[in-house]
Amino acid sequence: MSNLPKPEDDGLIIPDVKIQSADKHHYLERYINIFTQGMKNKPWAGLHYIDLFAGAGIENVVGKLDWGSPLIAAQSEAKFSRLHLVELNAEKFSALSKRIEAFVQPNAPQLILGDANEKVVEVVSQIPERSLSLAFLDPYGLHLQFDTLKVLAGKKRRIDMLILFPDHMDALRNCFAYYMGKPDSKLTTVLGTDRWEGELENSSQSRHADILRDIYIDQLKGLGYEWFDSVRICQKQGRSLYRLIFCSKHKRGGEFFQKISLKQRDGQTTFDF
Ligand SMILES: C[S@@+](CC[C@H](N)C(=O)[O-])C[C@H]1O[C@@H](n2cnc3c(N)ncnc32)[C@H](O)[C@@H]1O
Repeated sequence: MSNLPKPEDDGLIIPDVKIQSADKHHYLERYINIFTQGMKNKPWAGLHYIDLFAGAGIENVVGKLDWGSPLIAAQSEAKFSRLHLVELNAEKFSALSKRIEAFVQPNAPQLILGDANEKVVEVVSQIPERSLSLAFLDPYGLHLQFDTLKVLAGKKRRIDMLILFPDHMDALRNCFAYYMGKPDSKLTTVLGTDRWEGELENSSQSRHADILRDIYIDQLKGLGYEWFDSVRICQKQGRSLYRLIFCSKHKRGGEFFQKISLKQRDGQTTFDF
């Protein structure tokens, strides 16, 4: 259950989203709280929040208004040193830029209109060395290229990541029909390898989601990440949609996520892997 007051309709764009968005934000808000509180007095050169698919800042979750991810981060009790927000859609970007002004931050947010995969370099250039960051990476589908994660994972900064991995939304729905045998397919670009082709062809369908997760995690290990966790986000009817995958280079990040992910939005206890 969120501790934030509900947003009001301000006449700017408010995208309609499904109920699963509330689940996603439940974990994000809980992680932001534990992360900012737990790290605020540590000797980092700043705590930064990166949101490469930021949205409009307010959304309509099946008839009820709620905060989008960048404005959840903007309202965290222990403040981030700086927010870094990228959004491709001009109308959403404009709404977000106006809305964020209502939330005073230690430093003016970095706001970028454009493609996350191109603008990531500009974002990272504004993050000081020896700082600690949380990157929330929340595409609609297979839009977060693995090369973008390589930029975030560079050695000089520590960036923990919470990634929406759209296995049942896109990857598994389209892999055989559209992506198999195409060297630059969206799935290969997102995973950073075409290893998935052989592995999916030679295994039963019931294992495909786990295989994609394992390949993605192997790839993230190759970038130096060591601590992983995930939560499965499903439709109301229980059908899987996507995984939120958390990764950190430090044990403490893994412990934080494990702690906050035990409780689902409805208060029940959950386990994924
Ligand atoms: C799932 S929504 C994000 C919602 C937001 N993170 C939240 O939780 O409130 C995905 C957003 O990414 C934007 N988008 C799509 N492709 C993008 C890209 N290549 N770069 C940056 N933003 C993109 C869409 O316009 C949309 O607002």
